[in-house]
Amino acid sequence: MEKLIIEGGHSLKGEILISGSKNAALPIMAATLLTDEPCIIGNVPELRDTTTMMKLLRSLGKNVEFENNTLTITSNGKINHRADYKLVSTMRGSFCVLGPLLAKLKKADVSLPGGCVIGVRPVDLHLKGIKALGAKYDIDNGYVIVRTRQLKGSHIYLGGIFGSSVLATANIMMAATLATGKTIIESAACEPEIEDLTNFLIKMGAKIEGRGSPRLVITGVKKLNGLKYDVIPDRIEAGTYILLAAATKSFLTLKNADISHLMAMVDLLKYVGVNVVSEKNIIRVKSKKNFQPVSISTFPYPGFPTDLQAQFMALMCLTPGVSVITDKVYPDRFIHIAELNRMGANIRREGTTAIVEGVKELHGAPVMASDLRASAALVIAGLAARGKTEVHRIYHLERGYERLEEKLTAVGAKVYRQKE
Ligand code: EPU
Repeated sequence: MEKLIIEGGHSLKGEILISGSKNAALPIMAATLLTDEPCIIGNVPELRDTTTMMKLLRSLGKNVEFENNTLTITSNGKINHRADYKLVSTMRGSFCVLGPLLAKLKKADVSLPGGCVIGVRPVDLHLKGIKALGAKYDIDNGYVIVRTRQLKGSHIYLGGIFGSSVLATANIMMAATLATGKTIIESAACEPEIEDLTNFLIKMGAKIEGRGSPRLVITGVKKLNGLKYDVIPDRIEAGTYILLAAATKSFLTLKNADISHLMAMVDLLKYVGVNVVSEKNIIRVKSKKNFQPVSISTFPYPGFPTDLQAQFMALMCLTPGVSVITDKVYPDRFIHIAELNRMGANIRREGTTAIVEGVKELHGAPVMASDLRASAALVIAGLAARGKTEVHRIYHLERGYERLEEKLTAVGAKVYRQKE
């Protein structure tokens, strides 16, 4: 195992190229199961999670080649319907092969993904959706076993107690593309990653109206075709680097980024005292000297994203006054609090809320990464802190940040890997 050593306290300057979106790439890769024709997908980030999805697609019978961030996925027409526990359990995103397998083969055995450190993460909305489309399912030995003679269009409300679900929307939309008749999904997730998947499916020949809205209308077609497509930039990676620039009082330019996907955070940052401007696909971040504390709640898109909550908390640790951060999407996503406090932060948790009292400075410390975004928060805190920070269990970072050390080193950060 390796750890990341960070020598903090330096301000950074330069350009960072934003990679393709992990959370857009994963369901798009799964969608290739809907066709036997070749699919060429560009701007795919080289990450542990996309590599897991490649392995899963291979295990299902696809030929997958990956070079220069471009995937070429082909098939000899023989697709297997069983998504194995070993792969699905390591990454929740793999559960979105369920919809395409069911649509294409009329049967699917997909391992249940289980919970993780950010919460219980049930799949009831996915199951409600496939049942509404006329499939029968059983849970057996940790697998969802689904069968149907023919999926049929239906009117489905897909909202849950925490709002819409990104991957349930992906699964049901993909399943509905090859169903007979019309499917209407109400309370569909509006995340840019779902819009990207919708664009991908439309380019495959699917008939979908309401792209990017909470009401998707899908008219089933008989067959989908292969295509060439580029994945959108990763808004969470861009948001992480914006927050890093703010916390380290740096001047960073992000290339290949889309500010329109980050407006909830950019608007809040204006109030905090961080200037984020954009022209075409370039974002520039410049911070004022004094920051203001702010209260935020995470919500489904277009609200403030839960995937940037931990990184935002790292910034608020260094903002004078009291900030209040509530996670309405994952009420238990607060493992990073204890680690940030080890670095001198002053945060306490009250239920689904963190109360952050800003401190003058953070100090380096050995800390433990617990999940992908919590790890990113520790990297931000480490780079802003005085002294040396050691981030252990960095494999979490490899799930979602492409060439992290290389990108950081290029803008003047002192970060390197060491064997444990
Ligand atoms: N939920 C249910 N029932 C379901 C599905 C979800 O109650 O059947 C709940 C969840 O427990 C949560 C809320 O609904 O409280 C939203 O979860 P959602 O289903 O939208 O999450 P997801 O689709 O499993 C994706 C991203 C996550 C991101 C969330 C929320 C991928 C591969 N994952 O997960 O990304 O946090 O949407 O935006 O797209 C990350 O990248 O670090 C990450 C965790």
